[in-house]
Amino acid sequence: ISMQATVGDIKLAYSDEGRGTPLVFIHGFPLSRATWQKQVDALQANYRVIAPDLRGLGESEGAGTVHTMAQFAADIHALLAQLNSGPVVLAGHSMGGYVALAFARHYPDRLRGLVLVGTKAGADSPEAAAGRRATAEKVQAQGSAVVVDAMAPRMLSAKNTDAQMAARVRQIMAASRPQGVIAALHGMAERPDSTELLAQIVAPTLVVTGADDVIIPPAESHKLAEAIKGARLEIIPDAGHLVALEKPEAFNRALLAWLKSAGL
Ligand code: MLT
Repeated sequence: ISMQATVGDIKLAYSDEGRGTPLVFIHGFPLSRATWQKQVDALQANYRVIAPDLRGLGESEGAGTVHTMAQFAADIHALLAQLNSGPVVLAGHSMGGYVALAFARHYPDRLRGLVLVGTKAGADSPEAAAGRRATAEKVQAQGSAVVVDAMAPRMLSAKNTDAQMAARVRQIMAASRPQGVIAALHGMAERPDSTELLAQIVAPTLVVTGADDVIIPPAESHKLAEAIKGARLEIIPDAGHLVALEKPEAFNRALLAWLKSAGL
């Protein structure tokens, strides 16, 4: 079910299903909450599962040319206040992980747990940031297909032969509107380095990576798990960047086992 909340200057789309400890799932780039469908379906029997579309992506409105990670995090904080969720377990995939780290930086008392999926703490190098800005200009001229064509073939494990799944991933990405794609690219390009923050995270943390992730290599997850006190690392075999969609049973099993062990 799709719901809508007015958050600051925009309308944010989200789903909110089930009851219990709130689990919030933040999608990556250029994706939407549709990537978490298998988590929403499986976990809502025992948890309150909230999945927003970040501003400018999915069914959420965007505004302007830059959506910073701090803005995305502020949107989620405002949405959760409206939903009276109380502190949450926050899961972020890739760019959603950058948002989750921004949330941990600004609203640490709103965090009961943190799940970092296929993500990393570092900022863009100057070259990477310049590349993002060049991509943003291409999207401006040619549309979102520029990004979809470049990223879609790398989202799943190279071993994955499920054509239907690949088509589904492409469909989710292709729905991204240029304004949101451009604003997210500029936001990622200027995001701060969160490496120093990692040692300050006190919420129980799970780090998950697909073993075959080529967009953000598993080495980044090893670094996160080493830097965050008490973090657990789960490496899901035969999964690429979009691990929660590609291997939902293994992902959900790892998540549920960790939630249980953390008393969540
Ligand atoms: C994502 O999957 O969210 C992005 O590829 C992350 C990034 O480009 O850094």
